[in-house]
Amino acid sequence: MKAVHVLNGPNLNLLGTREPETYGLATLGDIEARLSALCKPRGIILHFRQSNHEGDLVTWVQEAGRAGEPVILNAGAYSHTSIALYDAIKAANTEVIEVHLSNIHAREDFRRQSLISSVAQGVILGFGAFSYDLALEAFLARTEAADNRPYRKQIMKSVGRGRKLPWQRRKRE
Ligand code: DQA
Repeated sequence: MKAVHVLNGPNLNLLGTREPETYGLATLGDIEARLSALCKPRGIILHFRQSNHEGDLVTWVQEAGRAGEPVILNAGAYSHTSIALYDAIKAANTEVIEVHLSNIHAREDFRRQSLISSVAQGVILGFGAFSYDLALEAFLARTEAADNRPYRKQIMKSVGRGRKLPWQRRKRE
């Protein structure tokens, strides 16, 4: 994974002051800083964006799809209404994890349905700002697991059976 797109929908720019009893005290800047700290040491580029406009989110999902780069999407209220986002995710040649700070199933009836869940790879909700960390960790864990096996196999092939792996050898060997 070379880059990850974290896309935030309407009113999420207000995090920190917006209904803190529901969404917590972390600002969007705090969330970005946490994710950046996870991405940087791994050399992953973080595209972190927010918009109050549905079309921006559609355009950004399309962009990530063209690049084949994974998306963490908190579409805010558009999660419950946007067929355009459903279509964009369905058409995108990449994986999307839907996230929510709050547990939308424990709230008002109109929030219990998300139009985008069925086209997302997975959904993480209810853990406050930590939902974003969990989504990123999910991508990282899968990428690292997928990367490691063939990598290890490849090394074993080049090293030969019974010989030590490069990182097991002493420096002078
Ligand atoms: C939200 C839940 C949505 O119902 C709401 O409209 C939001 C935030 C969340 O992160 O919990 O704006 O997506």
